Amino acid sequence: MLKNYGDYKKMVEDFLQLSELKKLQNCPLAPPILHSLNAGGKRLRPVLTLAFCEAYGGEVKRALPIAAAIELLHTSTLIQDDLPCMDDDDMRRGQPSCHKKFSESDAVLAASRMAFCAFELIAKAALPSEKIVRITQEISACMGAVYAGQKLDLLHENSAEFASISPEKILEIYEKKTCALLQAACVCGAIIATETGTENSTEIAIATAKNYALKLGLAFQITDDILDLTSTAEALGKPINSDIKNKKNTYVSAIGLEKSRNTARKLTAEAIELLDSICDNFFLKNLTENLLNREM
Ligand code: IPE
Ligand code: IPE
Ligand code: MG
Ligand code: MG
Ligand code: MG
Repeated sequence: MLKNYGDYKKMVEDFLQLSELKKLQNCPLAPPILHSLNAGGKRLRPVLTLAFCEAYGGEVKRALPIAAAIELLHTSTLIQDDLPCMDDDDMRRGQPSCHKKFSESDAVLAASRMAFCAFELIAKAALPSEKIVRITQEISACMGAVYAGQKLDLLHENSAEFASISPEKILEIYEKKTCALLQAACVCGAIIATETGTENSTEIAIATAKNYALKLGLAFQITDDILDLTSTAEALGKPINSDIKNKKNTYVSAIGLEKSRNTARKLTAEAIELLDSICDNFFLKNLTENLLNREM
């Protein structure tokens, strides 16, 4: 069993480099795609897919193509998120944002291309076809939620409703824009590891993974909002005060820093409790705890 974050991350990096990215060499969109993908993200979502697969008794290697697909999708949403028509941010992962380094058209096309690259990876994964179908359904539905969440996030910024949206409503937006992909990451790891469609206990284990990722994702986005106000661009690899610049309704703008920290702590404790109910996995518990105190 792998034990540290670096081991899981390296597996994802190696898979992306060796199997997938090589094939893009002849694609005219390779430069913007590789720029964003290789800029140095945390790879949290694919690490969760691998770790959940292992925690549920599966072989980590079988989850790699799905983990890589999820990272491609995540990176594509970041490229879009930074566009001038979205959050208009010039830096990502310590590098110029995709549209800054290249052009807006390159960024839009690269993000779309990456999504199809992801689904190609899923379709070709060496897994039973019923698992591929289920994973495709899970990931498609979650990406639908991500885009709905991003739409709501933009709808509520810089509007007459600014500052009047309730903290609960903000968490509903986070559930879509941030938690959905984290949920797909954990659920897919669980699906790969377990015998689906037969045992009720399997479905309960999958549902618990999803619930865990909901708590984790809410804490993760609240922490992101806190870091936007309290960190530095050097540490984050992306601009600070982006939310203020955009008059964004965040959990922090709604209830303040201290209360937000408390909520993130409470959600993290709830996430760890859910983990405890399904598996005894030190790595996942430790990771969940560490994400609360992350600096990037
Ligand atoms: C950034 O996600 C977008 C949010 C949901 C806050 P990450 O913080 O995981 O970004 P990378 O992948 O490490 O760049
Ligand atoms: C999450 O929100 C964005 C996505 C779901 C892609 P943010 O807009 O806060 O993410 P950052 O701060 O730009 O990484
Ligand atoms: Mg955004
Ligand atoms: Mg943003
Ligand atoms: Mg942010």
